[in-house]
Amino acid sequence: RTLRIGLLPGDGIGREVIPAGRKVLEALPKSLGLDFSFVHLDAGFDEFKKNGVALPEKTVETLKKECDGALFGAVSSPSTPTKGYSSPIVGLRKRLDLYANVRPVKSVVPTAAFPDPIDLVIVRENTEDLYVKEEKTYDGPDGKVAEAIKRISERASSRIATMAGEIATRRQRVRDTTGGDAAKKALVTITHKSNVLSQTDGLFRTTARAALEQARFKDAGVKIEEQIVDSMVYKLFRQPSAYDVIVAPNLYGDILSDGAAALVGSLGLVPSANVGDGFAMGEPCHGSAPDIEGQNIANPIATLRSVALMLEFLGEEAAAAKIYQAVDANLAEGKLLSPDMGGKAKTTEVTEDILRRL
Ligand code: NAI
Ligand code: MG
Repeated sequence: RTLRIGLLPGDGIGREVIPAGRKVLEALPKSLGLDFSFVHLDAGFDEFKKNGVALPEKTVETLKKECDGALFGAVSSPSTPTKGYSSPIVGLRKRLDLYANVRPVKSVVPTAAFPDPIDLVIVRENTEDLYVKEEKTYDGPDGKVAEAIKRISERASSRIATMAGEIATRRQRVRDTTGGDAAKKALVTITHKSNVLSQTDGLFRTTARAALEQARFKDAGVKIEEQIVDSMVYKLFRQPSAYDVIVAPNLYGDILSDGAAALVGSLGLVPSANVGDGFAMGEPCHGSAPDIEGQNIANPIATLRSVALMLEFLGEEAAAAKIYQAVDANLAEGKLLSPDMGGKAKTTEVTEDILRRL
């Protein structure tokens, strides 16, 4: 099988970590029966400054017509409102209907604060909720009033919960076959605030639950739990090891996933994938990091894990597992770590070490 992958480095350290991602794909053992072809695609703020568009039509069309998956680095945003600029990542999610944002958060080396291993995934709805950006401001009797629409639909809630159920099923299968953390159960936690927002979050809650009660998930041993979002934050920070898969509407998922990234030490470790039906785009959670750009010291691991995550959603679990293992082995040994992890290794040295392990 040959997979065609669009490479969108974007700005800043995106240009240093995306090449590492490509190298890892090229270094996968041939015995997996996988080949890759690549196409370089423009997007980002530098592209906007050069040609006046942050997300060229050609990039979108090539992804739609030619590619099986993509890797997105990071883009810089203008520091002041800039006419004509709109975020390419938000545009891509919309144009390709990448309706799920999936963020695994995993600790390899336990810390004093969290001695139990953290291994959870946040599955965030990516298309609606307050992020439909339907806002207005008007004059009220006591001054200005601003309002925003929070839109929750049955369709979006159902498909995101179904994806969470599929992820929980897959994770349990991996634990069963690799003898991973035996104590861990396939568990999906539905996060909401339906005690206050009984219609919007209420619809999310009941729809998500119904989707997760499908027989195929029950047969796979997936348990369902619910958590009000504020107590979710409390418990997540007290006992992150208790969680497996967390599914949430857009806003809560956004906040929870940045918060969860703090549990494992560095933004440079945390991957994500933007997933739609039949397409996955891996994306490190960090930004373009202008403070360290061009120095070859960015941690490539968030990107390498994003490569693996993309492969998982393209149905290539064995290839993904190889990359996860090589990354975890690098972290467990702890000899070639980048500066954000307290080490001295360069981006290219961390990458070489992981390639060697592959
Ligand atoms: P950032 O994630 O770029 O950097 C935050 C801090 O983490 C910096 O000190 C940076 O050096 C460090 N860091 C990030 N990734 C790292 C890595 N791989 N290895 C080592 N250290 C790493 O966030 P910041 O500084 O708030 O934003 C910088 C630019 O990136 C802004 O223009 C922002 O709009 C954009 N951004 C883009 C995102 C995206 O493309 N998805 C996400 C977040 C920010
Ligand atoms: Mg965020």
